[in-house]
Amino acid sequence: MIVESEKEINSLKAIGRVVAQTLKLMMEQAQPGMTTAELDNIGREFLEKEGAQSAPQVMYSFPGATCISISPVIAHGIPGDQVLQAGQLINIDVSAEMGGYFADTGGSMVVAKQVSEYDKMIEATKSALVKAVQAARAGQPLNGIGKAIQDEAKRNGFGVIFDLTGHGIGHKLHEEPTQVYNYYKPKDRRILDEGVVLAIEPFLTTGRGHIFEESDGWSLRTIDRTVAAQFEHTVIVTKDEPIILTLA
Ligand code: CO
Ligand code: CO
Repeated sequence: MIVESEKEINSLKAIGRVVAQTLKLMMEQAQPGMTTAELDNIGREFLEKEGAQSAPQVMYSFPGATCISISPVIAHGIPGDQVLQAGQLINIDVSAEMGGYFADTGGSMVVAKQVSEYDKMIEATKSALVKAVQAARAGQPLNGIGKAIQDEAKRNGFGVIFDLTGHGIGHKLHEEPTQVYNYYKPKDRRILDEGVVLAIEPFLTTGRGHIFEESDGWSLRTIDRTVAAQFEHTVIVTKDEPIILTLA
């Protein structure tokens, strides 16, 4: 969507804060011995308490309030009876709707432990998100976002997942502009409009960056069985630095 009033900005800020706080809470609570269904319940209850509805549930009948992916699953993992273990690389993605507005956020972490090979990729992914957000400016090419991500990934010795993209968001979970690529696409001539709402979500990987869907119809993993990390913010593009909606 393109934001047209202060009221819309405030509504987006409200749901942005809710998903950010939900993600923060879930990341803090994730611990060995807990099932992903239990962790999802913590998120579900917080969303409900705040008056928000899980977006993947409402829009796509996803079987969970949030997506919890245990590596080697990198995205769209279904919460269930899998038990978290120290040292696992996991990703939590929270998107929700409130008052007709949507926001989307996500992050990767290692459960209860430091694992240097994962931590390095996690830090590089966070850094790629910062660079990508800085590249999102009204009047600038949309493909600058992917370029910023790919450059930062490369600088840190990682690749990107080519098959997963950021997206427009606001009135729906996924809307125009669809396909905010996580790599530089020279032929993409789209220019960023002032006020456009984007979910920017770099995925960095140690591998070649292509994925497949598992037989559960949701879980995504890399074809080459390498690991990946993701961080995601929902932002409003302005002439200056974007307004980041998903800060806890
Ligand atoms: Co997301
Ligand atoms: Co998203």
